[in-house]
Amino acid sequence: MKNYQIESLPDYFKQYKKSIKNPKKFWDKIADDNFVWYQKWEKVVKYDMREAKIEWFINAKLNMTKNCIDRHLLNRSNKNAIIFEPNDPNEAVQYITYQELHERVCKFANVLRDQGIQKGDRVCIYLPMVPELAISMLACARIGAIHSVVFAGFSSSAIAARINDCESKMVITSNGSFRGDKTINLKALVDEALEKTHTVEKVLLVKRTDIEVPVKEGRDQWIAPLLEKASADCVPEIMDAEDPLFILYTSGSTGKPKGMLHTTAGYMVYTAYTFKNVFNYQENDIFWCTADIGWITGHSYILYGPLLNGATTVIFEGVPSYPQPDRFWEVIDKHKVTQFYTAPTAIRALAKEDTKWVDEHDLSSLKVIGSVGEPINDEAWHWYNDHVGRKKCPIVDTWWQTETGGILISPIPFVTPTKPTYATLPLPGIQPVLLNDKRIEIIGNQTTGNLCIRYPWPGIARSIWGDHQRYIETYFSAYPGKYFTGDGALRDEVGYYRITGRVDDVIIVSGHNLGTAPIEDSINEHPAVAESAIVGYPHDIKGNALYGFVMLKDIGESRDKDNLRKEINQIITEQIGPIAKLDKIQFVSGLPKTRSGKIMRRILRKIAEGAFDQFGDTSTLLNPEVVEEIKEGKL
Ligand code: WTA
Repeated sequence: MKNYQIESLPDYFKQYKKSIKNPKKFWDKIADDNFVWYQKWEKVVKYDMREAKIEWFINAKLNMTKNCIDRHLLNRSNKNAIIFEPNDPNEAVQYITYQELHERVCKFANVLRDQGIQKGDRVCIYLPMVPELAISMLACARIGAIHSVVFAGFSSSAIAARINDCESKMVITSNGSFRGDKTINLKALVDEALEKTHTVEKVLLVKRTDIEVPVKEGRDQWIAPLLEKASADCVPEIMDAEDPLFILYTSGSTGKPKGMLHTTAGYMVYTAYTFKNVFNYQENDIFWCTADIGWITGHSYILYGPLLNGATTVIFEGVPSYPQPDRFWEVIDKHKVTQFYTAPTAIRALAKEDTKWVDEHDLSSLKVIGSVGEPINDEAWHWYNDHVGRKKCPIVDTWWQTETGGILISPIPFVTPTKPTYATLPLPGIQPVLLNDKRIEIIGNQTTGNLCIRYPWPGIARSIWGDHQRYIETYFSAYPGKYFTGDGALRDEVGYYRITGRVDDVIIVSGHNLGTAPIEDSINEHPAVAESAIVGYPHDIKGNALYGFVMLKDIGESRDKDNLRKEINQIITEQIGPIAKLDKIQFVSGLPKTRSGKIMRRILRKIAEGAFDQFGDTSTLLNPEVVEEIKEGKL
């Protein structure tokens, strides 16, 4: 990005003011100066926040991969685009230059076309963190197919639900994945999922492990021989600015996951601009984001943001603790990483280890360190600052969401003075507002409220796949005319924001968003369960852990309760994935309800936290005796 680095605090305020006063002019110039277009836009933005109809760069034509790859071939062809660090530190690192990436993406894209994939088709990608994950996403973007990446920790039921929701025509998977000392057979999960779907015509297989897997004639094919035969020339599809780029599912407060739909031009402009500024990216930096590409953080800041800037991005297959708890620090030193971006849950887990693991590594290459996914607590912030940043690297606490496409609130390193646990100030173009329960905007500082955004930005999701009404209801109805984030926030005396957490039924566990409804739905499938309610409670590594209150059909049942607990977690693992397992399960004879039959989660949350004296107003409770019983049961 040319000349778009915010240089100082006065410059930030100047840019910010400009972006608010005239957003069209602001984004017009950024889009004009930094990307290649087949055709420029007729209008910068058109929106209706009540109908949730948002369009950016109207009628512009482009291709994402021309911007991520082709244009860098002129002067960065031998530069590394991707550094692949395998799970096993003894396995060779792979360096993929922009030239090689171009070739591999073109070949992959030609294979997709040969297999019948056309513009607009949905391709489900269920792969471990290997280069083929990035390459297959880019190959989709090359030919205008819509990728729907499913995190490779999800269960077969979760895969099936996502395939069915967007009617994927193809699945790209591998014969397994390595995670620490575990090997997981991903293909078996896909095979199971495909029994519950009917739209998938082809399955392409990447060989990652030695696991032998069945290859179903006519449907499944190994990708390697197809790639060998494929041409390295692939004419990119000309895409409209608002053509879909990808669908990415996120949890909601009802059972069905929401397929957030992101389109091409706005997402491109926004991820490129935020990457450049939030990480102070300079040519020849080595950027490492430890998220999985299966989440939005990986989409935007492992893949698209870095490649759009011609950066070198690290793809790490492993886990922080394997083979030893210094794996992250070893990788930083090995590749001379300059920007490191991770989640508070990983920081808290590593901070529990002996400090020698981190202190003994040379981390002097680092310039900026980042945090994402959940609030970072004071202790973790200081540990990160002292032991990883060594008090010389600004911490960027970046707040954003799958729905927002890119970072919305974050310090600009070397510009915004940081403050522990605060995401600080909105990026240019972002207009946060706090509202109270009466839908009134709270003006002034030193206040808290529900966080909304007043004006659209280029990276905002355009819809929920196949259900625009749900998109309107979830995000644009609570506070008409504004985008509602689902988060609460505090604004301090200088206008810095601190995100206080979700105000809806989403719980963030180890940085993963989990809706309570889908978990409850799966528990309720156990034949012995009548009803259940899930709440979160504070956990010193995961941030939040899950507490389930479960009512059995036969209260007096003399079943082995521990066994029942195991069975319940087994169902959750099968239906959603191991990330949604409950830490605690308490059997109860009833759930506290209001007279209108709503479960009073507020009280259950207090019980789970052990805050028995903070129930607040309980006068609307239908069954106060149940609360007493649950309290006693826990003690
Ligand atoms: C939470 C991840 C506090 C928040 C990019 C948000 C955060 C949800 C932060 C989105 C942060 C994300 N501080 N909370 N820096 N970043 N969150 O969709 O509750 O996986 O609404 O996107 O994570 O999670 P998602």
